[in-house]
Amino acid sequence: MNCRISDKPLYKFMDFGDMPLGNGFLNEKDFNSEHFYKMSIGFCPESKMVQLLEQPDASRMFHDHYAFFTGSSNKMSHHFQKHASSIHNNYLCTNDASIIEIGCNDGTFLEYFSKNNIKHLGVDPSENVVEHARSKGVICHCDFFSTKSSCVIEEIHGKADVITAANVICHIPDFLDVLSAANKLLKRDGVFIFEEPYLGDVVQKVSYDQFYDEHVYMFSALSVNYAANQCGLELINVEHLETHGGSMRYNLAKKSARPIEQSVSNCIHNELNIGLDKIETFQKFNNNCEISKQKLMEILDSLKSKSIPVVGYAATSKSTTVTQYCGITSDHMNYICDTTPIKQGKFSPGAHIPIKSYQFYKENLPDYALLFAWNHRDEIMVKEKEFTQQNGKWIQYVPSVSIA
Ligand code: TMP
Repeated sequence: MNCRISDKPLYKFMDFGDMPLGNGFLNEKDFNSEHFYKMSIGFCPESKMVQLLEQPDASRMFHDHYAFFTGSSNKMSHHFQKHASSIHNNYLCTNDASIIEIGCNDGTFLEYFSKNNIKHLGVDPSENVVEHARSKGVICHCDFFSTKSSCVIEEIHGKADVITAANVICHIPDFLDVLSAANKLLKRDGVFIFEEPYLGDVVQKVSYDQFYDEHVYMFSALSVNYAANQCGLELINVEHLETHGGSMRYNLAKKSARPIEQSVSNCIHNELNIGLDKIETFQKFNNNCEISKQKLMEILDSLKSKSIPVVGYAATSKSTTVTQYCGITSDHMNYICDTTPIKQGKFSPGAHIPIKSYQFYKENLPDYALLFAWNHRDEIMVKEKEFTQQNGKWIQYVPSVSIA
């Protein structure tokens, strides 16, 4: 599997040691056979890409019991509604217009096009989420998106005006193959629009938890531009988004098919200013992560020594990186509450902290809650007024460690 976009060496700047799967929620009987891999991150000075040096086999991560459902967040559902309607108005006004989504998950985004009778196809390798999408009337093809599957996709659907993806492309090791497949499936003036967690935010917010097995790459405009150029595409527009703790939406088109907008050079200029092209920036990031970890553990160790109950709020995939990197165990945390039924009754990867339902949390409000779903902070603070009013305290670690 090609997991490189340049043949130049990668410089390792952060080593997390043994790491379980971010979404590997498990039953007690499976504790002894839990899969771990070595997680470390490197930077390529040639392509400016930041990426995992090793990734578990894709079949371990994306399968028929994949635990993440896009629709579990109201804010994200709203975000995708808005995005769908904007794509509809900007690119899909003709009668034969069509759209393909890579990683359609439970159909939260494509449902809009299904309801508006617009030709669409969702491609996703996890059968359980695809079933959800189909139940909403979304047309799906269950497979990985690649140049190999692109022939079948073209037979089923034909070429597309728009190909989209959200929080998916950074999961796919062979990025160049995805770009080539997208190029092949796009109509002449079609656009490939994808949004992913943004390296600039990760560095500035010290959000090291954005690194886990599924996120092979942490993109920037610099690295996306480099990769696109190798596959007959070019970056024509970028838009910074607040979702997922800071993301970037990249618009790509076939070379010379559409004008390159000012946003691209502005963004690249900013990335050079904050040093996303230099290994020193990432070495400093590593130091900042160590400081963040020490501060968080001081708080959790102190609460543990006083036997004060702490609960984890939301069993996000990111929380696995935090518990494993910081050494948070079930001695620090009674349980983690989460609204996703498939996670409830199981245990968190690595730390084996019990996952309880949201109902359980409401009936057993803790003194302290560690906000693992910090990227959904605004939505959660509105929902959890009762906890705050009852003097419940939030422990946060992004963008800095604090208790409030
Ligand atoms: P993510 O950060 O990896 O997208 O995962 C989101 C997880 O957070 C998902 O399992 C649902 C959970 N969650 C809650 O439990 N409560 C909430 O209010 C929100 C927004 C998410």
